[in-house]
Amino acid sequence: MDEFQDYVLLRNTYHAAIREVSTKLEILDDEFQVRYDYNPIHHMECRLKSPQSLFEKLERKGLDIRLESFYKITDIAGIRVICNYIDDVYAVASLLLQQDDIKLLRRSDYIKNPKESGYRSLHLVVQIPVFLSDRTEMVPVEIQFRTIAMDTWASLEHELKYKRVGGITSKMEAELKECAEAMAEVDRKMEQIHKEL
Ligand code: GTP
Ligand code: MG
Repeated sequence: MDEFQDYVLLRNTYHAAIREVSTKLEILDDEFQVRYDYNPIHHMECRLKSPQSLFEKLERKGLDIRLESFYKITDIAGIRVICNYIDDVYAVASLLLQQDDIKLLRRSDYIKNPKESGYRSLHLVVQIPVFLSDRTEMVPVEIQFRTIAMDTWASLEHELKYKRVGGITSKMEAELKECAEAMAEVDRKMEQIHKEL
């Protein structure tokens, strides 16, 4: 029962961390609106990892199902930031990282170095303090920054991959990778047009 209470408290702390980081991002986006009449963030999606996928991940990583193991999982709190253009991705990410209470734990730039699948996004794992009644918790939050085109590809690829029981064929994989490259080309062209305006 105590463990359950601790788990509920911990989930609440992760939820607080998501709200803190998403508020920071909204504040930056609002400031851009006021200063430049432009919103770099198209929209955001926040999620707290479900107990089931958390347990599955612990198992996959060979970790015990206990609270101490949670600290090894850095994507319990997740935020997806969908930006209009590639430049916006780097601008918003670097403004967030400049903030005093944000500590960078990991940065994976899958835009400069796309994954084998063709997947593109900038992943940051940051740590943010959450002030509780009796202590301050440093909570990790995984932020995935991507453009609308990258998000379209990732959503559809995910959907296609999980729809087929045996997974997708290598021919489909190659075709999806081509789609990712075509999307990247669209991103470059659209950004160019935006810059010329
Ligand atoms: P995990 O242990 O699975 O978190 O791997 P990791 O720590 O190496 O994380 P990684 O940087 O690979 O990012 C994992 C997350 O990125 C996933 O939960 C997806 O949201 C996203 N992702 C990574 N690769 C792909 C991909 O090929 N396709 C799609 N659609 N999403 C991906
Ligand atoms: Mg991860």
